Amino acid sequence: MKKEREQWGSRWGFILAAMGSAVGLGNIWRFSYAMGAGGGSTFLIIYLLSVLIIGFPVMLIEFAIGRRAQTDAIDAFKKLAPKSFWVVAGGMGVLAAFIILSFYGVIGGWSLKYIFTYITGGVSGDTETYFNGFVGSTIEPIGWQFLFMGITIAIVMLGVQKGIEASSKWMMPILSILLILLAIYSLTLGGASEAMTFMFHPDWSAFSDPSVYFAAVGQAFFTLSLGMGIMLTYGSYLSPKEKLPSSAVYIIILDTLFAVIAGLVVFPALFAFDIDPTQGPGLVFVVLPTIFQNISGLGAIVGVAFFILLALAALSSAISLLEVTVSYLIRRLGVSRKFATIGIGFVIFLVGVPSSLSNGAVTIKVFGDPFLDFMDKFSGNLLLPLGGLIITLYGTWSWKSNELLEYADLQDAFYAPALLFFAKFVAPIAILIILIFGMLNW
Ligand code: PFF
Repeated sequence: MKKEREQWGSRWGFILAAMGSAVGLGNIWRFSYAMGAGGGSTFLIIYLLSVLIIGFPVMLIEFAIGRRAQTDAIDAFKKLAPKSFWVVAGGMGVLAAFIILSFYGVIGGWSLKYIFTYITGGVSGDTETYFNGFVGSTIEPIGWQFLFMGITIAIVMLGVQKGIEASSKWMMPILSILLILLAIYSLTLGGASEAMTFMFHPDWSAFSDPSVYFAAVGQAFFTLSLGMGIMLTYGSYLSPKEKLPSSAVYIIILDTLFAVIAGLVVFPALFAFDIDPTQGPGLVFVVLPTIFQNISGLGAIVGVAFFILLALAALSSAISLLEVTVSYLIRRLGVSRKFATIGIGFVIFLVGVPSSLSNGAVTIKVFGDPFLDFMDKFSGNLLLPLGGLIITLYGTWSWKSNELLEYADLQDAFYAPALLFFAKFVAPIAILIILIFGMLNW
């Protein structure tokens, strides 16, 4: 007899879990370093447009396919489009989840390390020297990465509802309040006007640079957890009663707000203290401790709170990444959840080790970038948009459009024709052009 598939406990359970997947290191760590390197406002504008024009339709299509197929990303395409090319999208999704989690675990480990740092008094002296000393050592970052992956594995082993839903429910609101308070504080440090110009004053000449589009679209996919079947898998745990478009809107607005507010925390302080915006993945780990050093008396407490929340946000995203591979393995190999989770979780940890080492301990470069940066760009800017492209093409060109409309709850929506037009033509063409130019430029 077939075991009944698990389902979300409630509509809010689903939305919060999807938000838990979306809101993570991508909003704070990746967004700020990509925006810093991408020139600020230009990056921000293209990113916001991508979220709206590409992110929203792709998210709805993923949810709808998942709800219709009631299974994981690969099996969904096998079921809905047997023996066709489309299953590639599912396979790429599992691959992307695997690669992303490998380095995500490294950055998650860094946030655990910083919790410990602030519990024991915080960073004294130069924050950049401290950061480089830590990531440049061999064993310590790997130890923290191991711990982070261990916690992720433990949560995923407990199952869909108990593990994922419960942990998503309470930490989002606390994280958002703390971020807002930090943004207000950061704006008083003296770099506000420069930061405003950097973030919001468009530099039109930069719009001709294809690498900014490549990075901004990749960031949109990464931050919304799109293009790899995560939202598809989450959609498969949905009951037919839930209303999808409004859920997607909540998730997208909240995720975007988190990123913009994180920018308002990072950039004013960065300009106030003369920190280089283009320094790459270490950015928030240098800027934030500098902010905390300035909060006299309370710095260490704020630091502990912030890094605990960052680590929790990272965990809820990591859980979703692991869930993709685990739910595939369980069905494919018929193994137990426990076995699949521990086994694949450990393999992903091992694959992440070179990413951890590439920040100073050992020189591992691919196409001129340290291994971690390369894995990040390759999966985020290339694999995810490509996966999203295939999923969207399937959803709009091959899947019956009445089924798409039905499973996305769009039958009665007045904007359905416009949305369909964007999903069918605008989004795929935009993704394709940006991928081609991005690749040529890489
Ligand atoms: N969206 C997560 C973040 O912004 O941190 C990361 C992520 C999770 C990316 C799941 C992709 C994904 F499928």
